[in-house]
Amino acid sequence: MKKYVVVLAALCLAVFAVSAFAASDDPIGACIYKYDDTFMTNVRRAMLAEAEKLGETLDVVDSQNRQPLQNDQVDAHISKGVKALVINPVDRTAAEPLMNKAKAEMLPIVFINREPYEEVMKAYDKIWYVGAKAEESGTQSGQIIADYFKANPGADKNKDGKIQYIMIRGEQGHQDATLRTEYSTKAMKDAGFEIVELGNDTANWDKVQATDKMKGFISAVGIDNIEAVLANNDDMALGAIEALKAEGYNLGDAAKYIPVVGVDATAPALEAMSKGELLGTVLNDADNQGFAAVKIAALAGDEKPVTEESIGYKITDGKYIWIPYQPVTVENYKEFMK
Ligand code: BGC
Repeated sequence: MKKYVVVLAALCLAVFAVSAFAASDDPIGACIYKYDDTFMTNVRRAMLAEAEKLGETLDVVDSQNRQPLQNDQVDAHISKGVKALVINPVDRTAAEPLMNKAKAEMLPIVFINREPYEEVMKAYDKIWYVGAKAEESGTQSGQIIADYFKANPGADKNKDGKIQYIMIRGEQGHQDATLRTEYSTKAMKDAGFEIVELGNDTANWDKVQATDKMKGFISAVGIDNIEAVLANNDDMALGAIEALKAEGYNLGDAAKYIPVVGVDATAPALEAMSKGELLGTVLNDADNQGFAAVKIAALAGDEKPVTEESIGYKITDGKYIWIPYQPVTVENYKEFMK
């Protein structure tokens, strides 16, 4: 009997050792909504850097802006035997089936950048969301414009005491597009300005689309009437600036300048700030979003506890990691250049 127990214990130990080894050796599977996105490229780089640091294998694929493709990629990750998933959904309203695929296998799943609905987040205990509070970025970008108008009364070109602005929005349905639009206008009003919207359209986070939309606004309302441009991200702010430059604006002549703000603090945006083309932006911290997502996936994938201590980030309601935004202005932009 005693011998039998010893053999059994040894067997258990061996199985435990093998499974512990297998757990830490399995890759983390990740999907990015599309590789052709400046901000998500920065997040992906941070994820890969963190995986390397932790000695983890990160198997990351391009979902090419197609949700059905991403669904198949998640199936492929699962059948390959990943220990955890990091998903940047193409369509955040389509996160539920992805959560269910993970749940069926008891696999941890970390959503990033596109926030699943609350009911999806509540329906599974091994689910996390890493992102940033879009309200903050909206408020900060609106404040940058308001501060500029306070410091430069001449920015009110028609002297009507109001800010005549153009709003260029991100993708329809993306929480960042909705909230940045809402909170940036609110911030200008909260700062005491009356605001007049001369144009408002989506350019889907995309620089080229933003140039086209901005050209359309310029011909519709006349460049002399535009006093500010707010874009939901830097790529679109830079796209709008291309359209302004084509009219001889934002090229260094103080009489021909329209303040433009974006969000993200990408390298090209900081470069445009250094040339005086872009007034300001807001740091959307790609590094910390990428680092946090991979840390959680690595720990949860090895069945280790995910705590504020183990990941080094604040956790809200047990599953949300909100990485703070920071205003980036002419005073501090150099600190963000890499
Ligand atoms: C970023 C955008 C990016 C989008 C992708 C946003 O948080 O600010 O630049 O295109 O996420 O989902």
